[in-house]
Amino acid sequence: MSASGPIGIFDSGIGGLTVTAAIKQALPMERLFYFGDTQHVPYGPRTLEEVRTFSFAITEALLAQGCKMIVIACNTASAAALRPLREAYPDIPFVGMEPAVKPAVEQTRSGVVGVMATVATFQSELYNTIVERFAKGVTVLRQPCPGLVRQIESGAFDTPETEAMLQGWLSPMMEAHIDALVLGCTHYPIVRPLIERIVGPEVRVIDPAPAIARQVERVLEYDGLRCAARTEGVDRYFTSGDPEAFHRMMERLGLDGQEVEQATWEEANTLTLP
Ligand code: DGL
Repeated sequence: MSASGPIGIFDSGIGGLTVTAAIKQALPMERLFYFGDTQHVPYGPRTLEEVRTFSFAITEALLAQGCKMIVIACNTASAAALRPLREAYPDIPFVGMEPAVKPAVEQTRSGVVGVMATVATFQSELYNTIVERFAKGVTVLRQPCPGLVRQIESGAFDTPETEAMLQGWLSPMMEAHIDALVLGCTHYPIVRPLIERIVGPEVRVIDPAPAIARQVERVLEYDGLRCAARTEGVDRYFTSGDPEAFHRMMERLGLDGQEVEQATWEEANTLTLP
């Protein structure tokens, strides 16, 4: 493993680009390889086992490209696969997402916090362990958001339909007096302006992406893998869906100037990157 190798990042689609943007900002010297599994999005309604199979294949494909570290920029895939991946690849540093329940619990005054995440994330041991460990004395309201990832992947970042969906999920939590709201899926920060418009300034919306970028920095530092100068070669972006459509989304999210390459699933457990 060499410090000049790229950081591999993946998600079910465009959600992990919110984490990628934070990593790019914190670590401008690093080269990033991103894979969005648009063919299989959404991961949320799938079984943890299926998401684990995808995550292993994606990790292998990214490692075959020389990645020095893997960032699972997807809460669902982290819940399904972070632990088994670390066990299977003990020499590779992994950084995964976990719902930011701890900072929400630290900040709440009303004693009620909300978490938005996928159904699979809420079913996971990772999520339930975090709530057990950190939410002592605080009520944590869980809100699955079926259909929201699809809506975001279709580009409906600020439409009346997306707003109505969010309103339906957020109103009961507001009535229960949440004052902190955790975005427990990396797609959701894309609709953060809409969410903030609905919940208003009294509710603190928490996106863990900047904290994840800091964690990536710490791990690279600790493992002596930090890149001292911008290395040769550019960032690369891959999708198992339509590269042009993916590129249009990247433009909308301010990650432009990058070609998107086609990745192909040979079977459920074999991914080929060009
Ligand atoms: N962005 C993902 C997450 O953080 C995946 C959502 C999905 O594909 O359902 O959970």
